[in-house]
Amino acid sequence: MHLLVTGGCGFIGSNFVHYTLGHRPECRITVLDALTYAGSKDSLAAAGDRVELVVGRIEDAALVDRLVQASDLVVHFAAESHNDNSIANPLPFVTTNLVGTFTLLEAVRKHGRRFHHVSTDEVFGDLELDDPERFRETTPYNPSSPYSATKAGSDLLVKAWVRTFRIQATISNCSNNYGPYQHIEKFIPRQITNILSGRKPKLYGAGANVRDWIHVDDHNSAVWAILDHGQPGGYYMIGADGEQNNKAVIELILALMDKPSDWYEHVNDRPGHDLRYAIDAGKIRRELGWTPRYTTFRDGLAATIAWYRDNAHWWRPLKEAVEARYAKQGQ
Ligand code: NAD
Ligand code: TYD
Repeated sequence: MHLLVTGGCGFIGSNFVHYTLGHRPECRITVLDALTYAGSKDSLAAAGDRVELVVGRIEDAALVDRLVQASDLVVHFAAESHNDNSIANPLPFVTTNLVGTFTLLEAVRKHGRRFHHVSTDEVFGDLELDDPERFRETTPYNPSSPYSATKAGSDLLVKAWVRTFRIQATISNCSNNYGPYQHIEKFIPRQITNILSGRKPKLYGAGANVRDWIHVDDHNSAVWAILDHGQPGGYYMIGADGEQNNKAVIELILALMDKPSDWYEHVNDRPGHDLRYAIDAGKIRRELGWTPRYTTFRDGLAATIAWYRDNAHWWRPLKEAVEARYAKQGQ
């Protein structure tokens, strides 16, 4: 089977490539990635000759047409993915997340290929801290930030192409991922690499905001469950019952890295900061028999800390610039 994986040099996409190489001997992969600031060839350094990298943009219709035609199946991870960046400069989010997804859909429609769209729970907006509800497949869309609004728009494009043009597509909406190869602008790797480089972790506001953490390999095993057994036109929530508030996550990282529990600082909050995300993954568990393998956040986090400790060459060249950018925002 020949997969076209967009965004395969980013965090989740590169882990998907490694996961697929390890679990699917029948697959070869073409990665289409623009190598933006968030993509790194080094994340695929160990991938070997079953993977070909094409450097290019998903909005490039001629290139996308050729690559989609040559593949059996498209798995679409490429996106501008960081909320804080979308607040500072929304335009690349509109271009990549909306125009890029549209360009892929048109090629998939023309060539009759199966398409899986990787999306986020942030399309649903946020929940109150004490709300017993969690996001499910039927929750109305209500995005808050330019990032989540453009992801919501991309989901709606896929849904329209399914309904109107009868393309064979599935969508997954997953909660916050952690694991190796995550860009150090994101919450967990930022704090780990802060400590490894002698800086204090940085907590937005009071740290009461809740995210529902899942290990990236569990996200990718769920994507494979959908590719294998998902209903065409089906939508699936992915989550692993990993709700934690941000302060508790920082305290756990500090404990695992042998630092005092109050060795962190409060910085400016994010404008429009979503309060809580929580996923009800009952449908994918019931219908596709999927279950996460990382059942304790503490163990998954300890393995992630070990990866950043052992792979300083991967992140250290980025650290000064990331922190300088955050410092300008008072974060
Ligand atoms: P990332 O920012 O780490 O990687 C994105 C990749 O896409 C990079 O390699 C980048 O070079 C590439 N890219 C960006 N614009 C491109 C373009 N126009 N053309 C081609 N390539 C381009 O993102 P991630 O965290 O790995 O997220 C992957 C997908 O998963 C995204 O669609 C995101 O919305 C979704 N998602 C992420 C999370 C999370 O916690 N990170 C959770 C749920 C869903
Ligand atoms: P992030 O990793 O940006 O993911 P998302 O915004 O998509 O959920 O942030 C996760 C949470 O951590 C979010 O509530 C914002 C907060 N946060 C901090 O407290 N400090 C930080 O340095 C960063 C980057 C995020």
